[in-house]
Amino acid sequence: MRHSPLLQGHGTIHLEFDGANVFKIIHAQFIAPGIKRFILEAPRIARKQRPGQFVILRVNETGERIPLTIERSDPGKGTVNLVVQSIGKTTHLLNSLETGDSIMDIVGPLGKPSEIANFGTVVVMGGGVGTAMAYPTAAAMKRAGNRVITILGGRNKDLVLLEQEMREVSDTVFVTTDDGSYADKGLVTDKLRQLIENGTRIDLVLAVGPIPMMRAVAEMTRKERIRTIVSLNPIMIDGTGMCGGCRVLVEGKSEFACVDGPEFDAHRVDFAVLVQRNSMYRDAEKRSMEQYQRELEEKKTTAKTQAEMACALEGK
Ligand code: FAD
Ligand code: FES
Ligand code: MG
Repeated sequence: MRHSPLLQGHGTIHLEFDGANVFKIIHAQFIAPGIKRFILEAPRIARKQRPGQFVILRVNETGERIPLTIERSDPGKGTVNLVVQSIGKTTHLLNSLETGDSIMDIVGPLGKPSEIANFGTVVVMGGGVGTAMAYPTAAAMKRAGNRVITILGGRNKDLVLLEQEMREVSDTVFVTTDDGSYADKGLVTDKLRQLIENGTRIDLVLAVGPIPMMRAVAEMTRKERIRTIVSLNPIMIDGTGMCGGCRVLVEGKSEFACVDGPEFDAHRVDFAVLVQRNSMYRDAEKRSMEQYQRELEEKKTTAKTQAEMACALEGK
């Protein structure tokens, strides 16, 4: 095991790396279109992981570093699970890996764990892949004695994730789809509004999903004075509070989501700044995805030509 001391604004921290740089994929499977679950061998991370924490990984030597939430870990088996949605180049590359492949490096667990206590009634809201990120906290909230009401949402039926797993850790589960292809047509916020209007007692809301969803939840609960936590997804690079990439504005103060978060009080977050900072690299991200697609096409064409040549030679 390697230890790497790094200086950061919050004191000295030590990053530890499991094994010799390579993390084996024990199992990889698509659980929805474009969304893959990985079970990885990472014993030290599995031992230390707490709900709400994430890892930063690099697929290969030339790859960029991206943050991913640990969906669950099994300290006994020494494994951690990640659920990854293909968005751009790196997530597409990652989701092209299969059982038996390896990931070059993974650092973690990073970030502050979720605050777990017996709050009373907790409403957990997951939008798309956000459900996988909210799952470990929902499970811990249930274990802590809370009544857990879960609201899951997806654009369509296929993109409603982990419904069964969420049912196992919730007292009640509501599901919404944008297009009405499954359960209730509408948004997760429609269901939250109904709960509030019905006079359901809510002591805490945890919302994890796309920024517009978390922002809408924050606006709704602010009026009702319901404490609300969101898990922010700014661009992260080092994950140690040094690069400043993940700076978010919280009640006028700069905070680093990687060390001060990723969970924050939703009513104190400046979502406009988050949206603006997350779109800073959009052109470069688009170019990088286009380049990746061109390379894939070239590889496919080369493989096809080689197969045709082999067939022709065999035919001779
Ligand atoms: P790109 O085309 O490079 O970027 C697409 C969009 O993804 C960008 O516009 C930006 O909003 C975001 N993004 C790009 N690079 C980064 C970066 N280095 N850090 C953060 N966001 C970035 N996604 C999952 O599918 N599953 C998870 O469990 C998950 N957990 C996350 C936990 C945290 C704490 C954060 C901050 C993000 C998490 N994400 C998760 C989002 C994931 O990191 C991005 O989708 C991924 O980095 C996109 O990379 P890309 O190259 O495929 O896409
Ligand atoms: Fe660099 Fe947070 S990712 S400061
Ligand atoms: Mg990228």
